[in-house]
Amino acid sequence: MNQLFRRKHYTGKEHKSELIRALGTWDIVFFGLAAIIGAGSFSSLGEAIFRGGPGVISLYIICAVACAFTAMSYAEFASRIPTAGSAYTYAYASFGELIAWIIGWALIMEYSFGNIYVAFSWSDYFTSFVERLGFGIPDYLTTSYTEAKKAFMAGSQNQELVNAWKSAPIIAGIKFIVDIPALIINALITWLVYIGIKESRNFNNLLVILKLAVIFLIIAVGIFYINSENWVPTNNEGVKSFMPNGFTGVMSAVAGVFFAYIGFDALSVLSEETKNPEKTLPKGMIISLVLSTAIYIVLTLILTGIVDYRKFEGIGDPLSFIFAPQNANIPWMEFVVSVTAIVAITTVLLVFQMGQPRIWMSMSRDGLMPKKFAEIHPKYKTPSFATIITGVAVGLPILFTDKTFILDFTSIGTIFAFVLVNGGILLMPQKEKLKGRFHLPYINAKYIFPVLFIGGLVGFYFWQPEFFHNLWNITDEHEGEFRLSIIIFLIINLVLVVLSYLKNLSLIPLLGLTSCLYLLTGMTHNNWFWFGLWFIIGLGIYFFYGKKNSKLNTENIETNN
Ligand code: ALA
Repeated sequence: MNQLFRRKHYTGKEHKSELIRALGTWDIVFFGLAAIIGAGSFSSLGEAIFRGGPGVISLYIICAVACAFTAMSYAEFASRIPTAGSAYTYAYASFGELIAWIIGWALIMEYSFGNIYVAFSWSDYFTSFVERLGFGIPDYLTTSYTEAKKAFMAGSQNQELVNAWKSAPIIAGIKFIVDIPALIINALITWLVYIGIKESRNFNNLLVILKLAVIFLIIAVGIFYINSENWVPTNNEGVKSFMPNGFTGVMSAVAGVFFAYIGFDALSVLSEETKNPEKTLPKGMIISLVLSTAIYIVLTLILTGIVDYRKFEGIGDPLSFIFAPQNANIPWMEFVVSVTAIVAITTVLLVFQMGQPRIWMSMSRDGLMPKKFAEIHPKYKTPSFATIITGVAVGLPILFTDKTFILDFTSIGTIFAFVLVNGGILLMPQKEKLKGRFHLPYINAKYIFPVLFIGGLVGFYFWQPEFFHNLWNITDEHEGEFRLSIIIFLIINLVLVVLSYLKNLSLIPLLGLTSCLYLLTGMTHNNWFWFGLWFIIGLGIYFFYGKKNSKLNTENIETNN
């Protein structure tokens, strides 16, 4: 049993890194912005606004808070363990091998599966851009099989999807529906990451500058078209509200909103390619998170201010949509934004496609994955085999999954990993302060956390009294799922209140933990089912392969204390 929780002690000198240390603080910030602002804001924001109304801003703020606390925990870990590997490496040091494996496994959902969603979105923007230029691509070559099938079966209003299903040629008895642009961009990005970090960095910085420029342009132009009445729309029942679909409506957007924040954590996998990682990485991570959060909040205000939330139904390109003729009616903006979306989304693909192989490389070095995954290319100095496998892991599911499924799957896996990272910091002993290193300020949660919990509960009562009054009076399935999750969340928090009192837990990671747990309450039972299945497959692989081949079996660096 103890074997499952054997921990690894990292000194940062486990192996001689062959990767080139080329990245400074602003490169890290750029990588951060590259990873954070992408398909989440350029695509899934539309659906999020439709579900939550302008009140979805509150979910952006909640997610930002959860991510900020989690970033602090990441930064603390990154400064303690300056080797590549992200949450996986951190869990290995704090929770032990089994949980580390589980995190590594969950991170595949974040990086590889996340990139599937991003590749789909890229394809959407690319296709509409090409169509604006007057070239047509058949619908069955620009969408996924499952998406087209679902739309057709459900009698969807989305003509492109239905048409893809109807017009697809039949090959070997199966309708040939493949998202070709998504496959092509995946292949291109894989190649770029394969040939090296330096090339990727220059490319990346250029793309990020372009992306930021257009976002500022959207804000600068859009601000003049805001109608503040849109911020408190009249809902279908005729009530004026910031949250026309209630708080349940807002929380149902959690996968899409959280997805927009994923990315800052990907920076920690670059530690072996960063100059002076103990200082640079935490600084870069926090700066990039603060900047992107500010951009998000403003962007959401602009969108919900210009267009009524109901109009965002099924809108996959919300940032250009607000400038369409029926809205602000600025054709050149519509064009500029849709071109830039292609660029913005490309940067996300790049960062994630770099992250995944580096996690696998760490796992392989620890013996939990085959040795081949740690192989470094002699010329390009990149983890070449792992990079190619990442390309395959993203490319293959493009053939048989769809956007909604992938979005939910990615978000639940990532939030789960964040929960464990915050929990890991809570388990780590306090350390002496070293000059030049990042240190998470220790604030004793003993009294503060219980007060915050009770205060939060009372505040929530006054804000949403109907939630408590109708606790057992459930009208629809989603409402029921959300309530059950909230009750479980409250019970876990009660346990945390007791623990914080008894163990003097550190406040910042504790708030990170509880806010990420809160985000999980927005997940449906269906999400949990698929997540559980993925989890069981991962455990199977660990027991058949990782446990036997772990380096901790042979090396004397194991502790159980
Ligand atoms: N945050 C990233 C995006 O929105 C994953 O594309």
